[in-house]
Amino acid sequence: MNVLVCGGAGYIGSHMARWLAAHDIGVTVLDNLSTGHREAVKWGELVEADLLDQASLERAFSGRRFDAVMHFCARSLVGESVAQPYDYYANNVTGTLNLLEAMRRHGVDRLVFSSTAAVFGNPVSALIDEAHPKAPINPYGASKLMVERILADAAGAYGLRSVALRYFNAAGASHAAGIGESHEPETHLIPNVLRAALGTGPGLKVFGDDYPTPDGTCVRDYVHVEDLAQAHHRALDHMEAHAGAHVFNLGNGTGFSVREVIAAASEVTGREIPFEIAPRRAGDPAVLVASSDKARRELGWTPVHTSLAPILDSAWRWHQQQPY
Ligand code: UFG
Repeated sequence: MNVLVCGGAGYIGSHMARWLAAHDIGVTVLDNLSTGHREAVKWGELVEADLLDQASLERAFSGRRFDAVMHFCARSLVGESVAQPYDYYANNVTGTLNLLEAMRRHGVDRLVFSSTAAVFGNPVSALIDEAHPKAPINPYGASKLMVERILADAAGAYGLRSVALRYFNAAGASHAAGIGESHEPETHLIPNVLRAALGTGPGLKVFGDDYPTPDGTCVRDYVHVEDLAQAHHRALDHMEAHAGAHVFNLGNGTGFSVREVIAAASEVTGREIPFEIAPRRAGDPAVLVASSDKARRELGWTPVHTSLAPILDSAWRWHQQQPY
């Protein structure tokens, strides 16, 4: 079996490439290296191509045979999507359409797609399951929901088999393999907390302590990036047995506040983590916690890193290796 990992030089994509290689599945990485890292491509050939450049996509598919595509390429920052919506719709929707057309031309009819909790908007229930209303509150979430819709239409029209996986908060690292989360600038909580523990970075800010949560800070459901990779592997099996377009939510079902993350990181690192309270960040829902019963039941997904400490520990080991 041979899988094309689009966005395989990025955070989640590089962990996927490693997982596939470890399970004797052939890997080819496609990436434009706009936010990905060449040095994170350690498993499989790197094909430099851009989803918005149809000719480069055509070259990537020509002369290669893929049984399935995993699609991690996206712009994925909520705040940036509000400021630059054209970029988000172009990259995330038009780019995906170009990829789907290339797949169709080359007879590839299996896709695992990276979706997001941002398709739901502000939650109306404590646990978010797949049936929760979809009402994205930013262009990022809207662009991902649009692709989910396209995949449903493609199932009917072209027989495309797909699984969209809606990640909650991806976290952790494969520190022993030398891959982890690295964005510039970094906007995500856990890397910023760990940089603060290392004494690097601009200083940790907690965005809002007046939310309607027990300690006033936002609550999120952190899921280890290797557990996300496992879910993609299960999705490949699922598509063998099931035609159509399927969606699953991926989280651990437990929420942690920003303050709880900082306290747990202080325990894991054995260091004081200084922070200051700052105003709320636009577009942040107070609480996002997944119900992943459907993924456990139908995909047979069994996350391994179900508590916060081991997730933080793997990220901490990786951050300590970085030349900050
Ligand atoms: N936060 C801080 N300080 C920081 C960074 C984050 O207080 O330096 C807070 C945020 O305000 C938020 C929480 O920590 O309350 C988590 O923030 P992240 O940026 O780590 O993650 P998000 O929940 O914003 O984003 C994740 C994914 C997105 C996805 C979104 C869905 O990274 O791709 O969930 O809402 F769109």
